[in-house]
Amino acid sequence: SILEMEVEQINKGNYEHYMQKEIHEQPESLKTTMRGRLIRGDSSKSKTVLLGGLKDHLKTIRRSRRIVFIGCGTSYNAALAARPILEELSGMPVTMEIASDLLDRQGPIYREDTSVFVSQSGETADTLHALEYALENGALCVGITNTVGSAIARNTHCGVHINAGCEIGVASTKAYTSQIVVMAMLALAIGGDTISSESRREAIIDSLFDLPNKVREVLKLDQEMKDIAQLLIAEQSLLVFGRGYNYATALEGALKVKEVALMHSEGILAGEMKHGPLALVDETLPIVVIATRDACFSKQQSVIQQLHARKGRLIVMCSKGDAASVCVGGSCRVIEVPQVEDCLQPVINIVPLQLLAYHLTVLRGYNVDQPRNLAKSVTTQ
Ligand code: G6P
Repeated sequence: SILEMEVEQINKGNYEHYMQKEIHEQPESLKTTMRGRLIRGDSSKSKTVLLGGLKDHLKTIRRSRRIVFIGCGTSYNAALAARPILEELSGMPVTMEIASDLLDRQGPIYREDTSVFVSQSGETADTLHALEYALENGALCVGITNTVGSAIARNTHCGVHINAGCEIGVASTKAYTSQIVVMAMLALAIGGDTISSESRREAIIDSLFDLPNKVREVLKLDQEMKDIAQLLIAEQSLLVFGRGYNYATALEGALKVKEVALMHSEGILAGEMKHGPLALVDETLPIVVIATRDACFSKQQSVIQQLHARKGRLIVMCSKGDAASVCVGGSCRVIEVPQVEDCLQPVINIVPLQLLAYHLTVLRGYNVDQPRNLAKSVTTQ
């Protein structure tokens, strides 16, 4: 029964902490998120996405002037991770808003906009107020939440449930990866069935089907991430460099480290390196560089070389088999991850960083499920 399922979710089982359990649950939570929504028949023609809560609104969404994502914290980062594929498949302008900042500016939202509200809890005050603001301005409002019956699910015109299962750890993990998958499916649904993008869409759908297996594979890095956490235990700060599909991974990885391990950490857009961050680089500050295979790979290789030239203490995340091509001079630590379709790679790449944040927190002796000063659901502004 549903109740038994929920009780099961609330049990820690063999895990010591909820965050740990929720990280390791991701192969299953991703399956639940995709269940019944991806259709792959024998002929390629039948590969499609079905999002029941959106199908009557797809035409309106396609006709809108832009898509604007609105959220806070990890939910904002998930939308940022999905932005490139949404731009690619929809051909529409996709903009990003932190809910509080949109409200502070009273930024422009129009009738011709599709505004997408992303929230695990569906109750975050800033996101909810931004929703009221968008409704007043006449925009079509789409909700992406993990909580059936939540305020954001109720007050939006239409939406998609994340279906990641109940998340208890204050730091969001499995909801993040499921949110990215939901927004990738949203991109497929909005993109429709144009011939020009057919093979791309099929490749994404195939990769989605295989994603739970690939996440299971990347979870095997657990001990390796614990070893790296051991090396970082007494550090003051950790930088995380990413770009393209994995700019969001850099922000989200850094957010995990700061919120649970209580260590300063900053996600940096690698393309901005020379405009400030490079001044911080020396032989002591640890830096994670995400350099998995995609169209930005050679640019990231050059970033690694430049960090290396300044004696940066590098931990490089790369695709399996790429250690030799990313680790110049053999002086850096390498994390090799399985490769998936480029737009879904953020789902894989965040997992080692979740594990790193988890182990770092436990090793430093902090409360991993309830970090000081933070709440799971921020219902005040
Ligand atoms: C709090 C939580 C974060 C979460 C954010 C947004 O800060 O600690 O884990 O990402 O709120 O929450 P939401 O429920 O709207 O996704």
